[in-house]
Amino acid sequence: MSSLLVKLHTPQLTHLDELVALDQCCLGGLWTKDGYQRELMSPNSHFWVLSSDSTQTIIGCGCFWEILEEAHITLLMIAPEYQGQGLGQLLLYSLLRDALSRNLERATLEVRVSNQPALSLYQKFGFEVAGQRKGYYQQTGEDALVLWRRGLHYPQFQQELSIWQQQINDRLTANHWQLSMVEGKSKQTTVKSEQ
Ligand SMILES: CC(C)(COP(=O)(O)OP(=O)(O)OC[C@H]1O[C@@H](n2cnc3c(N)ncnc32)[C@H](O)[C@@H]1OP(=O)(O)O)[C@@H](O)C(=O)NCCC(=O)NCCS
Repeated sequence: MSSLLVKLHTPQLTHLDELVALDQCCLGGLWTKDGYQRELMSPNSHFWVLSSDSTQTIIGCGCFWEILEEAHITLLMIAPEYQGQGLGQLLLYSLLRDALSRNLERATLEVRVSNQPALSLYQKFGFEVAGQRKGYYQQTGEDALVLWRRGLHYPQFQQELSIWQQQINDRLTANHWQLSMVEGKSKQTTVKSEQ
């Protein structure tokens, strides 16, 4: 049985156009090309992306800003045709694991009150609602929920990461993916079996 390969890696400036296209498709144009360029070059912005080997395109992206001891998650998106297969949680897990490796203590983000899929995903990973920003999203006037995930530096979080890793593996396997994790930032791969 042949396989489709999806790579988990850090993006380069050559990926700018793909990131903008994915952003348009998933978030309606949150950041411009200049914005992505600035973020990719910033030492405080940490990205992880998923690339499909068959289409040679980026199909998922996550990013956080490292601010003092906090991870501010600024992006999390999976191309619509790849959603619902466990890839979003793989990306969120990767961001949190990266935050831990940088000795960060907590993570935070804003999410639209109506974005139930994202809210459910974050709560699954221990994020809790800490507040609400009225009319935060200028285009729609929608409120944002402010979420925090504390305790990244506690020993228990390491255990939680291990449990999540197993759950993510199981989920990907159930969706006919095979996960191959190779040590090293840009060398982790996920393999999906063709049906
Ligand atoms: C949010 C997003 C990244 C989730 O990615 P995904 O690959 O579809 O998510 P997964 O398949 O890994 O699902 C993981 C969890 O997310 C939640 N989830 C995902 N899709 C959901 C849906 N349609 N309804 C409710 N919960 C959902 C669930 O908790 C799910 O776990 P479960 O299947 O065990 O219940 C994706 O929907 C997306 O890119 N949305 C558009 C961009 C966006 O809104 N980003 C967040 C901005 S804050």
